[in-house]
Amino acid sequence: MFSKSVTHILHLFTSKPMAEEVDMSGRNVIVTGAAPNSIGYETAKILASWGATVVVTSIDNIELMEGSLRRDLRIIGADEKKIAAHALDLCDVDSVNNFTTWYRKNYDDRLHVLVNNAGIHRNILNPRKKPPMTKDGFEIHWRTNFLGTFHLTSLLLPILKRNGLKSGDARVVNVTSHLHDRVKNKSLFDNDDGDYSSWEAYGLSKLALIHFTFEIQRRFAGEYNLQSAAVHPGSVKTNLLKTEEFEGRIRYLLNRVCSALTSFVLLRPIFGAQTSVMCASTQTLQGGSYYVRCETAESSGETKDRDVSKLLWDKSDAWVKTLVKNSGHEQS
Ligand SMILES: NC(=O)c1ccc[n+]([C@@H]2O[C@H](COP(=O)([O-])OP(=O)(O)OC[C@H]3O[C@@H](n4cnc5c(N)ncnc54)[C@H](OP(=O)(O)O)[C@@H]3O)[C@@H](O)[C@H]2O)c1
Repeated sequence: MFSKSVTHILHLFTSKPMAEEVDMSGRNVIVTGAAPNSIGYETAKILASWGATVVVTSIDNIELMEGSLRRDLRIIGADEKKIAAHALDLCDVDSVNNFTTWYRKNYDDRLHVLVNNAGIHRNILNPRKKPPMTKDGFEIHWRTNFLGTFHLTSLLLPILKRNGLKSGDARVVNVTSHLHDRVKNKSLFDNDDGDYSSWEAYGLSKLALIHFTFEIQRRFAGEYNLQSAAVHPGSVKTNLLKTEEFEGRIRYLLNRVCSALTSFVLLRPIFGAQTSVMCASTQTLQGGSYYVRCETAESSGETKDRDVSKLLWDKSDAWVKTLVKNSGHEQS
């Protein structure tokens, strides 16, 4: 942890890697979780300004997100119609089903890049306090960051594969975190959460996402031209850091103080978006890799265990199939 902090601080004072512009016209992209002041917001804005047709998602702030992104595109002289927003709650089965049905109908099954960016990290300042479980009974980081993302991706896989075959290049970019290295594979299948820590729960969801990334590459790159990359965006000043601890004025003041302090030590979202943008656009993607600062990096040793990736896929896939069966939502 100490060496990571030192490296991070050194990077703050050196030049920040920027993705090279790529013509994205003709490419359809989904970026999940693009609230203003977030990594997803900047990712979507850059890709749309490079010509991609982009759909962004929010749990319920659709108008704010779409209006703000369109205004920003107008300001830089880009086509504001390149962006549309739609509701998506990864923890809600119906919402994920509705989003994919809406997307497929409105975009004629065209999808080249899925950026699984949406995510949460709760109780950052008070990690031992366990957040409430989701309404379907899961630990909330696991449900949002991993299971919800797995569900969404599974429903979109048929069109990603089709577009990979047709265009020669489809991608899934999963926004993960360096905190994946805080946890071990055995915790992926162990329901006993013992001493709870929200940092470990968060890390576990991101470890699962990296296994998922590598497994997509193994399963679909060769046959369908569907590549996959995992990204660590850096330590970035976004809404993720806003505390939900305390109430009213104390919460407000705490957030103001944290915001002021973190401005000096965290990246701005535009820099945090660069690695996702690069993985979504570069013609020289090394699929099946973990990327940090716009280049491939080593993920933890745990992520290299192929048997674990496969087992996790099979278990998650069985869970999604049950959901699909219960909801009558067909995958084709
Ligand atoms: N910030 C960092 O330092 C950092 C470091 C490593 C990794 N990351 C990862 O980067 C990604 C983006 O995070 P950020 O820092 O930009 O955070 P953020 O500003 O809090 O944005 C997170 C986005 O995720 C969406 N989201 C949250 N819960 C959701 C749910 N149940 N269903 C659908 N969408 C949901 C939010 O939706 P609403 O628009 O509705 O609020 C929001 O748009 C996350 O995966 C995070 O884990 C961040």
